[in-house]
Amino acid sequence: MIGRANGDAAVSITGFGCYVPERVLTNDELARLVDTSDEWIRERTGIRERRIAGPEQALSDLCVPAAEQALEHAGVPARDVELLIVATVTPDMFFPSTGAILADRLGAPDAAAYDLSAGCTGFMYALAQAYGMIAGGLVDRALVVGGDVLSRIMDWTDRSTCVLFGDGAGAVMLERVDAGGFHGFELGADGGGGVHLNMPAGGSRIPATAESIAARQHFARMNGREVFKFATRVLVSSAAAVLEACDTSVDDVDVYIPHQANVRIIDHAAKKLGIPDDRVVINVDRFGNTSSGSIPLGIADAAADGRLRPGKLVLMTGMGAGLTWGSALMEWTAVFDGGGNG
Ligand code: ACO
Repeated sequence: MIGRANGDAAVSITGFGCYVPERVLTNDELARLVDTSDEWIRERTGIRERRIAGPEQALSDLCVPAAEQALEHAGVPARDVELLIVATVTPDMFFPSTGAILADRLGAPDAAAYDLSAGCTGFMYALAQAYGMIAGGLVDRALVVGGDVLSRIMDWTDRSTCVLFGDGAGAVMLERVDAGGFHGFELGADGGGGVHLNMPAGGSRIPATAESIAARQHFARMNGREVFKFATRVLVSSAAAVLEACDTSVDDVDVYIPHQANVRIIDHAAKKLGIPDDRVVINVDRFGNTSSGSIPLGIADAAADGRLRPGKLVLMTGMGAGLTWGSALMEWTAVFDGGGNG
């Protein structure tokens, strides 16, 4: 789908927050687990380290602090949240949803709360849904959370995947504003490519059995070369599509927040699109690929380094399992002074 925002209803991000676990896992530590090296990981991916959730931490434990920060920044009490979406592929459990768990833990009893599964693109899909619910007049305040605890579905004996990922979560508050905010979205899915990035067992196709566990089918599997080709293609095509739909030149983009899977993929996309390095947000070096957490973590980074200021044009593009992709173009509206926003 591709859609330009409804000009009569300006909706924007009015608060954000993020959380990463304390435990840092370095490339050198990984080199003691599998046949790899700091040099190989840095050269091929740009990743220096990633965060790993503690044994007692599930996804909702990462989402709570991120969501609380977003609510505080926006100045919105949790009880006023009417819609709460958690984009993830690693919920606390299949059901109840982490969205419902989070709504309870935050104290948002009136929120419609659920999980959204679109791989690493989940945060972009959730943004579009929340935008649509607000612009359509169904709700006034939506909390969108993207996060994953991918360390729980990594095969720590598979060097082709376990070096790439990390744990983290980010949250944003969406509300109506006077002007600015979202300009448009482009989202897509190619289920035919799903085979290149999946976790085969644990669902209704292959329920958990002693055999499925012995065959290591409860871990993420990826054909890195195919996903690399897909990622370099859609990061460019999706961004170009949303820019065109919004009649916007790429030269006007002030801040580019792409999904953080690999610095080489990001560099390729930025170069093809013609976005200079100083407009590109990178956190994959510190956090690895945090799936649905990567773009909201990027929002927090760009705000912290002063690049996200009112009036700045922000382009975000995600891509991931599905295979899926999604972009949003928005004019940043929120002012942050370390606590409230005006
Ligand atoms: N350490 C050392 N060697 C390794 C490692 C490792 N961790 N992993 C793979 N290799 C080896 C391979 O076995 C291969 O050896 P061979 O030539 O003897 O067969 C060699 O390195 C080169 O392998 P390639 O796959 O060609 O390496 P490439 O440069 O393509 O990098 C990578 C691999 C980093 C996985 C890359 O393909 C990639 O980034 N793919 C996209 C990944 C991605 O974006 N995933 C997530 C997107 S969606 C989401 O976020 C969930």
